[in-house]
This record gives sequence, C-alpha cells and structure tokens, in this order.
Amino acid sequence: MAGNLEKNSRIYVAGHRGLIGSAFARYFHAEGYQNLIVRDHASLDLTDAGQVQSFFDEQRPEVVVMAAGKVGGIVENKTYPADFITQNLAIQLNIIRSAHLAGVKRLIFFGSSCMYPRECTQPMAEDTLLTGKPEPTSIAYGMAKLTGTQMCLSYNQQYGQGRFLPVIPNSVYGANDNFDPVSGHVLSALINRFHTAKQNGSAQVTLWGSGSPRREFLYSDDLVGACLTLLQTDPDSIALPINIGPGEDVSIKELAELVTDVVGYAGGIEWDTTKPDGSPRKLLESARMKAMGWSAKTTLKDGIRQTYDWYLRNRCEPA
Ligand SMILES: NC(=O)c1ccc[n+]([C@@H]2O[C@H](COP(=O)([O-])OP(=O)(O)OC[C@H]3O[C@@H](n4cnc5c(N)ncnc54)[C@H](OP(=O)(O)O)[C@@H]3O)[C@@H](O)[C@H]2O)c1
Repeated sequence: MAGNLEKNSRIYVAGHRGLIGSAFARYFHAEGYQNLIVRDHASLDLTDAGQVQSFFDEQRPEVVVMAAGKVGGIVENKTYPADFITQNLAIQLNIIRSAHLAGVKRLIFFGSSCMYPRECTQPMAEDTLLTGKPEPTSIAYGMAKLTGTQMCLSYNQQYGQGRFLPVIPNSVYGANDNFDPVSGHVLSALINRFHTAKQNGSAQVTLWGSGSPRREFLYSDDLVGACLTLLQTDPDSIALPINIGPGEDVSIKELAELVTDVVGYAGGIEWDTTKPDGSPRKLLESARMKAMGWSAKTTLKDGIRQTYDWYLRNRCEPA
C-alpha cells in the first residue's frame, strides 16, 4: 500500500457506534468500501488483551481507525479518573500491540488537546507537548492519550517510519455524540440543555463556570476528511503527531449564544462561577495539517445546525 486506501482494503473501525467511529463508518459505507470490519462493545471488549489479539489474528485488518475509548466531559473526568486512565491505557496497549503483530499497514490513533500543558502558548503547536503539566481536571485522560501517542511514535521508530499515525483533533462534535447534560461534551450537552429548556418553557438555564474559556470545535465529518488526507499520503512525509482543528475558537459564552440561536431558546443564561472552568484556552496550531491541503469545510453554526437536526431525529424525547 503506497500510502493509499483502496476500496477493497480491510478497514477496522474500532468504536463504530460512537461519535468519531460512526462518522468514519458512514463515510466508508457511502463511498463503497467493501471490507469494513466492525464489532460492538458487547462482542469485543477492547480492554481484554486475549480477545483483541484473537480478533486481529482472525480478521487481519490492513487499516485501523482507533475510535474506541473512554470519553467524557469535565464532571466525568473528575469523578472517574481511575476508569479514564485504566480503560484508555488498556484499549491502546491491546490494539496497538495486536495491530503491530498482525502487520497492520496504517493505524489512526486519536490523541487529545488535553495532552497539552495547561499553561501552553496559544495556539498549541505539536512541539509543545510534554513541556508542562496538563490541566488537573483531565490529567488521567490526558496522560493515557500521551502514552498512546508515544506508543505509536515508538512503534514507528522501532519497526518503520509512519505506519501508526497519532493525530490530535480538538473538541469533536456531530451525530452520535453524547448529549447527556452531565456526562456529555460541552457542545452537545448545551444542545440538550437548551432544547429541554425550550420544551419546558424555562425562563433560565444555569451553566457551569464563567463562560470565558475558549474552545475550538471540529465537526466529525471534517475530522474524517483530515484523516483520509493522512491515509492517502506517504507516511514518511508526515510529521507526527499532527494537530487537527479548524483554526478558530469561541468562548463558551459565544458557543451558548450560537446554540440558543439554532435551538430557538429565548430564555436567559446564568453562569455558576462556583464551578470549575477547566483550561482557559485550547486552540490548536494546525499548520502541519493545513500544509497538506486540508481545511475544515463546516462552519460552527452549520455544524451545530446539522447536529441539532440529528438530535431531533434520533435522541429527542417526545415533549
Ligand atoms: N470526542 C472528541 O472530542 C475527541 C477528541 C479527541 C480525541 N478523541 C478520542 O477519539 C476516540 C473516540 O471518541 P468519541 O468521542 O467518538 O467517543 P464515543 O462517542 O464515546 O465512542 C467511543 C466508542 O468506543 C467504544 N468503547 C469504549 N470502550 C470500549 C471497550 N472496552 N471495548 C469496545 N468498545 C469500547 C464505545 O462503545 P460503548 O458505547 O458500547 O461502550 C463507543 O462506541 C477516543 O479515543 C477519544 O479519546 C475524541
């Protein structure tokens, strides 16, 4: 495989029912890829080394998209740090090692902006990784992701350059996200909170923190586009790891206004400043990715509209 993804390539999408995995599965189905391999959590527990090795021995995928992992918002990260570090480390160790032993040709690993130092210069460039301590509220998750990233780089170094591709997307959103107001990511949790408030005629919604932290959001289909660019490029020419973000951020307050606009919630917003904000800013420097000809195609407002449409069709409880 000269850096190319073929229509008959054996492609395993781990976590195909999740936010990122489902975007890849949708794309591969729509584009007529014939050998897509998927397993749900109940039939393959990726924290179980034996199950994972048997699966790779039997299925022999050529390309792996590693979109399985334990993911959550600030509350989940603070409440279950042991689960975040243990499950993510186990999944990463099992998949990366088994992929290597089974001769997988390309593997995409998703790191996270939580890997960067809390006090990082903005925008955050790849060479500032490991120059400071990550944000304490998500350090268990961030450390697991740093380890997975380094595993990919170490396998490349020891066994051949650029086979495993660690990428660092910023906050991803889209269909199949977790919309739970407590455990979900901020954008999808806001869609749920404002939609519910509109349905209930609530005059006010109270949100955590000050609203001043700035975040960068990447629509899931745009992440797929970036990864396809990487899979179709000679891996030796890619500097790794590589950030993936649209290059613009918004404050949580601005995000809340965009979401209320799309959802049509007309009430007020109160900010509970006794609750933590997390990192003040997390904007990625995505110059490496952009130099490869990729750019995000979906504006934040259009992406929120499409995500809200999906939510209304799939997740919304009848009023
Ligand atoms: N979302 C983001 O903003 C973002 C940003 C950067 C990186 N990432 C990384 O990208 C990956 C995918 O994230 P996501 O947001 O798409 O997560 P998600 O929506 O929560 O999906 C994760 C998927 O992994 C599966 N999974 C979890 N534990 C498993 C296990 N032990 N065995 C088998 N399957 C398991 C889940 O299945 P069940 O639901 O059935 O457990 C689910 O389908 C994660 O590694 C995450 O760290 C995400």
